[in-house]
Amino acid sequence: MTALTADDIRRVFLDFMAEQGHVIIPRAPLIPRDDPTTLFTGSGMQPLLPYLLGAEHPAGRRLADSQTCLRVQDIDEVGDNRHTTFFEMLGNWSLGDYFKQEQIPQVWTFLTEKVGLDPNRIYVSCFSGDPEHGIPKDEESAGIWARLFTEAGVSADQVEVGTEEHASEVGTGGARIAFYSDKNWWCRGGKASEMPVGEPGGPDTEMFYLFPQVEHDPAYGEHCHQNCDCGRFIELGNSVFMEYRRTEDGFEPLPRRNVDYGGGLARIAAAAIDSPDVFRIGLLHPIIAKLEELSGRSYDDETRAMRVIADHLRGATFLAVDGVQPGNKGQAYVMRRLIRRAVRFAFDLGLQENFFPEIIPTIAQIYAAHYPEVGEHAEFVQRVLAKEEQSFRRTLRKGLKQLREYRESGVTGHELFVLYDTYGFPVELSAEEALAQGIAVSDDWRAEFDGEMAAQRARSQQSTTLHV
Ligand code: GLY
Repeated sequence: MTALTADDIRRVFLDFMAEQGHVIIPRAPLIPRDDPTTLFTGSGMQPLLPYLLGAEHPAGRRLADSQTCLRVQDIDEVGDNRHTTFFEMLGNWSLGDYFKQEQIPQVWTFLTEKVGLDPNRIYVSCFSGDPEHGIPKDEESAGIWARLFTEAGVSADQVEVGTEEHASEVGTGGARIAFYSDKNWWCRGGKASEMPVGEPGGPDTEMFYLFPQVEHDPAYGEHCHQNCDCGRFIELGNSVFMEYRRTEDGFEPLPRRNVDYGGGLARIAAAAIDSPDVFRIGLLHPIIAKLEELSGRSYDDETRAMRVIADHLRGATFLAVDGVQPGNKGQAYVMRRLIRRAVRFAFDLGLQENFFPEIIPTIAQIYAAHYPEVGEHAEFVQRVLAKEEQSFRRTLRKGLKQLREYRESGVTGHELFVLYDTYGFPVELSAEEALAQGIAVSDDWRAEFDGEMAAQRARSQQSTTLHV
C-alpha cells in the first residue's frame, strides 16, 4: 500500500473512530479555557479533564479528536529527530464505556491495518504494578497484546524491566512486551508521587516503533530499549487506563473507568514513511523546503536550525490563531520566546532580513485544509508574527554584539537583564546563546534575573506613585 500522509492519517483515524461509535469533537484552543493551573493545552486529554473525573460530556461517552498541543518543557530537545514543542495528538476516549479488551485491539487495527505499520516493528510496554498502593501489574493489557502479536505471526515474549536504568542494562531482553514501573503510569505532570490531591491518572500501555536503520547510541545507556532516548525507538502513543484519583495517602478509584488514547500524529506519519526523522513528513517538510529555498542552505547541513524554526513558527502560528499576541507575561511571553528564538536561528542561516512573510503562508496552507480557522486568520497571523520579527530584528545584531563583549567577564542575571531590557532578548535565549558561544553563565542566573526584574517593577511603581 502507498504510504499515507499525515493528512491521510488524521482523516483515517477520525473516520475509523466515527465507525466505532465515537463523536468527533473540535480541537480546543492552545490556551485552556477554564484551567488556570497550566499555560497551554499540552495533551489531548486536558480539555476533557472534568469528564474524565465523572461529569457527563454533552456528546456522549465515546469521543475522538485531533488536538493541537504545545509543550514548551521540551523546547531544548527540539532539534533531534522527533521532539517538537507544537504537535497534534490524535485522541479517543471512553468515558466509562469500553475498556482494555476493546481499546487495545482498536489501536492495533488503526496502526497496522489502517496506517499499514509493520507489526514486526511495533513494541509495547505495560505497567509493572505499584504494590505499595495496591495497584496491580497490568497482566490484562499484556495478555491482549500477546494475543494480537501472536495472531500477526510475531513473537510476543514478555520481560520485566522495571526502571529505565534497568532497561538500559537488559535492553528489550529480546521481548516484545516490556513491563516498566514509573514510565507506565500516566498523569499530567508525569509522576505518580508528584500528583496533586484530586488529580486523575492510571496505568498506561505505550506503543513504540523500531527504526532499525538508526544505530543505538551508547551515550543513552548500554543497551537500547523501548524508552531509550537515542531515537531508535519512537513512541507512537499511549492508552491510559484512567481509573484512579490521587488522595492524601494514596489513590481511590474514579467513579468510572476511562480510556484516554493519545497518538502523536507526526510520529505515526513518520513511521508510515519509514523515516525516523519526523521533520520529513508532509506537515513539516514543506516548511523545511521553503527554508532551504530562502536561505540557499541544505537541511542536511543545517538540520537543527531548520527544525527549530519550523517547529517554533508552527507553534507561534497556532498561538496567534488562538488569539495570543507576543508580550512579556505568561502565554504571550512564551509566544515571544518562540518567535525570537526562530529569528535567532534564522540569523545563523543567513536569513538576516525579515522572512516571515515568505514562510508563514506555507505554514497556513499546510494546516488550513483541516483547521479552517488557520486559513481564515492567515493574514492576521502574518501581521502579528511579522511585527514581532521586525521589532526583534531591529536590536538582534546589537544584542549579539553586546553579548560578545561579555566573553571575558561571563554573564550573571544582571547582564541577562540588560539584554532583555535593552535588546528584547528573552532571558532563556540569552543564557542559551552565551553557553553556545562559550561564555560563562553564573549558576544563579535565573534568580539573579528575577531579582533585577522585581527591582525594576518596584522602581516603576515608585515613580508612578511619585507622579500621581
Ligand atoms: N493519552 C495521554 C497523553 O499522552 O497525553
